Amino acid sequence: MPNNQPEKLSGASLDIAAENLRRLKQLFPSVFTETVDDNGIPTESIDFEKLKAELGTFSDLFESRRERYGMDWPGKKEALRLIQQRSHATLKPCREESVDFDTTGNLFIEGDNLEVLKLLQTSYYGRVKMIYIDPPYNTGNEFIYPDNYSESLDTYLEYAGLKDSEGRKFSTNSPNEGRFHTKWLNMMYPRLYLARNLLRDDGVIFISIDDNEVSNLRKMCDEIFGEENQLGAFVWKRRQNPDSRNQSNVSIDHEYVVAYSKTPSSQLHGTLIDTSKYQNPDNDPRGPWASIDLSGLATKEQRPNLHFDIVDPTTRVSYSPNPNRGWSKSPQVVNKMIAEGRILFPKSPDGRPREKKFLKDLKSNITGFSSWLNSNSVGFTTNGTREVTKLFSNKTFDFPKPSSLIGLLLQQSTDANDIILDFFAGSATTAHAVLELNKQDNGSRKFILVQLPEPCSPDSEAFKAGYRTIADIGKERIRRVIEKLGTEEEGRLDLDESSSQGRGFKVLKLGRSNFRKWQYLDPSISPEEILEELRLHVDHIDPNASAEDLLYEILLKAGLTLVEPVETVTLAGSRLFSVAGGELLVSLEDRMTKELIDAVVEAEPKQFICLDAAFHGNDQLKANTVQAFNARNMQEEQADHILFRTV
Ligand SMILES: C[S@@+](CC[C@H](N)C(=O)[O-])C[C@H]1O[C@@H](n2cnc3c(N)ncnc32)[C@H](O)[C@@H]1O
Repeated sequence: MPNNQPEKLSGASLDIAAENLRRLKQLFPSVFTETVDDNGIPTESIDFEKLKAELGTFSDLFESRRERYGMDWPGKKEALRLIQQRSHATLKPCREESVDFDTTGNLFIEGDNLEVLKLLQTSYYGRVKMIYIDPPYNTGNEFIYPDNYSESLDTYLEYAGLKDSEGRKFSTNSPNEGRFHTKWLNMMYPRLYLARNLLRDDGVIFISIDDNEVSNLRKMCDEIFGEENQLGAFVWKRRQNPDSRNQSNVSIDHEYVVAYSKTPSSQLHGTLIDTSKYQNPDNDPRGPWASIDLSGLATKEQRPNLHFDIVDPTTRVSYSPNPNRGWSKSPQVVNKMIAEGRILFPKSPDGRPREKKFLKDLKSNITGFSSWLNSNSVGFTTNGTREVTKLFSNKTFDFPKPSSLIGLLLQQSTDANDIILDFFAGSATTAHAVLELNKQDNGSRKFILVQLPEPCSPDSEAFKAGYRTIADIGKERIRRVIEKLGTEEEGRLDLDESSSQGRGFKVLKLGRSNFRKWQYLDPSISPEEILEELRLHVDHIDPNASAEDLLYEILLKAGLTLVEPVETVTLAGSRLFSVAGGELLVSLEDRMTKELIDAVVEAEPKQFICLDAAFHGNDQLKANTVQAFNARNMQEEQADHILFRTV
């Protein structure tokens, strides 16, 4: 919670241990816990077992240890383990489903968000300004995607019908199943943990949730983000008319948007103060002013010094305060204000003096952003439904959020060039809100959306309209919003072409690595199968992979974003991909030559990546290549080094 007290300047030198603790807490807030010392006094301490787990070393966590304050549930250890398990999957570009593939900065990723969040860690670590998610609320009716701890990519491929079967059905999470909260917590914990890594230090996450899981979510977020980074739980009134179906006669009309920051350094933009009440009817040279109540909040017994009479020096009329409240300022301050002409005396002796407060003296023109999200401006769930129904001409998606709700959160937490992530995208309301806000303030915010290809039920309107999965609905919504915004701008002479730029989006789909050596080797496979795998390793690239598939996998694993500009260039007669204005050169040629290496060194990229197989076992040529880069790097400053890697 923000503290409005100034920090005390310390006279002592840096407390090294305290500073180390502070840094450790910033890196691993979840390992800080509360224990009780020998005198029964609660103290903050480090859960070293958990710290070990964060660093990849597991012991019999949560067993045989002192009782401590914190949140546990069955499967938490596995959830932590799952975070550490590295993904070897890839994201395959899909040009035909994208809009402005080559120029857009926006991404729509189809896949299970756990795998996708893992894959984004290298390229997007610390780059996202705002995350908004609207996960399943665990009402018992939605399905919770089952993470198979041993191989989540396989689970996904089966689910999406990309492996063996026609798509495996997973049932909904029903309260009768027993492990009701557990399953939800196990699903959310690793995702939130990985999401935090993607946030910038001044980044913020907003999570929509209702009463079913709000208390668990807040406890879990306290652990993952650190209690001190809790910004608030905003309340949104989602329904306009009371619900008469509840047996208890309580109509739950609201839900929450729980907000956390990555570090205490981030803040929301706040709300502009309404300055319309500041006017200047008497032409005061000090400018516009407002008449403000001078009453205090304390009785005479509580604050005797704030109970005194104020005398108008011109009329000598004396005014006593409200006996229950007194004044808000001391006699000395009031006398000074009278001398400066900053007290307004009433026309009648029955009135009370007020403060003449000048606009120029306001310390800030910003006040706090209320935790009460006003539905008059934000809208209700019905507004979200109407919005989607209007775009699709039928009710294509159940309970989408109104884009104005996410728009408001975007206004509070992002600036024109920020990256926004939503990894439970549904009908892509977040993309809609980003595109609308960019249009309003001429911004170029970029979105990354992740959505599972969850099948639409065959009796849904969406299915009848031809949409097979929720991901298909999301993609189509973005296309329709882009078209709508373009149409609205048609004929507007005040806009140039740049206003509609950046409205496209690139579709990528989660899939198996294109490089066999990165594919998962199931430990239970037979010796014959291992031999077959080894044989395949000789040519370790998937024969069905396109050059673009390989390029995107390389970008992802080399830590470049998936929206860098890509060109093809010709060096020494070979075609190469030049990424991010030549920062990275990628060769997918199947034969490396000395001429090509020399040309690459000459071109001075920051990084050069080529296929290992392109050396065809010629270790001499490979060693010479390494030497050629080393020799070039020896002559240059550290910062100009070329990194040479093979795949
Ligand atoms: C409540 S909806 C989001 C609605 C969205 N805010 C809107 O306005 O349209 C949650 C979505 O998360 C998706 N989802 C659930 N598990 C997922 C997973 N493991 N990976 C990606 N998406 C998932 C579901 O398919 C569902 O569409």
